[in-house]
Amino acid sequence: MLVLEAKGLTKVYGGRGKVATRALNNLSLQVEKGEFVGIMGPSGSGKTTLLNLLATIDAPTSGAVVIEGKEVSHMRGEELALFRRRRLGFIFQDYNLLDSLTIGENIALPLVLDRVPVKAIKERLRTLAGQLGILDILEKYPYEVSGGQQQRAAAARAIIHEPAVILADEPTGNLDSRSARDLMETLVLLNNLAGVTIVMVTHDAFAASFCSRIQFIRDGQIYTEIRKGASREAFFQQILDVLSLMGGGRNEPLANRG
Ligand SMILES: Nc1ncnc2c1ncn2[C@@H]1O[C@H](COP(=O)(O)OP(=O)(O)OP(=O)(O)O)[C@@H](O)[C@H]1O
Ligand SMILES: [Mg+2]
Repeated sequence: MLVLEAKGLTKVYGGRGKVATRALNNLSLQVEKGEFVGIMGPSGSGKTTLLNLLATIDAPTSGAVVIEGKEVSHMRGEELALFRRRRLGFIFQDYNLLDSLTIGENIALPLVLDRVPVKAIKERLRTLAGQLGILDILEKYPYEVSGGQQQRAAAARAIIHEPAVILADEPTGNLDSRSARDLMETLVLLNNLAGVTIVMVTHDAFAASFCSRIQFIRDGQIYTEIRKGASREAFFQQILDVLSLMGGGRNEPLANRG
């Protein structure tokens, strides 16, 4: 079942006197339910622009974004805000947890905003935190736990309301390699456990090797796509090969991490 579809997305920044930049050029993408899709490409290739369009944070110059059969690129105001809150989950590079709330309160926030009964929230929170191995930090504040734990909490918050899709922009960008592996294993767990659909932008081949499919973007267009075969290790090598073919990437050699 198709969960997310980008149809001929074009995004032009600037214009009206300024120099125009064509960040996306007629890009199309389809994501099935339960897929874990990575988006990779050189700096400036349009990855964040694409994610912002999928996230309904920005609108395309032309083309459409369809999520669960609804054309979100045409939604406005309250309808859009509600859709974003209920049907999408987000994970950012800098965790974006609120320092005035405990980890548990942060994770529960999407349900609180939706006025879900307290008892149901508590049950859902405990189940999810148990699955992610973060039950013992629920009472702590974000500044009292590690970056890796904060990011796992952010992953829990992104999924607690059972969104159609989780969108992540460089979620391992601020993590050391140990925490990055932890987070990727958490995302794979959520992906397998709950069948949640994930679209993740990353420039890190190691993080990308946990995905089931990688879409490579160059100059605002799809460059190529590869799917994971038998092993993550082989996929990692395949990703490195495409990146070096494509050129212009920011990825450092990570041969010792695969
Ligand atoms: N708000 C904006 N106004 C004007 N140009 C922009 C804006 N945002 C991005 N661009 C341009 O659009 C192109 C794509 O940018 P985008 O941020 O999507 O790239 P990216 O693939 O995420 O790069 P990186 O890997 O460095 O994060 C670039 O040429 C960039 O300079
Ligand atoms: Mg970017």
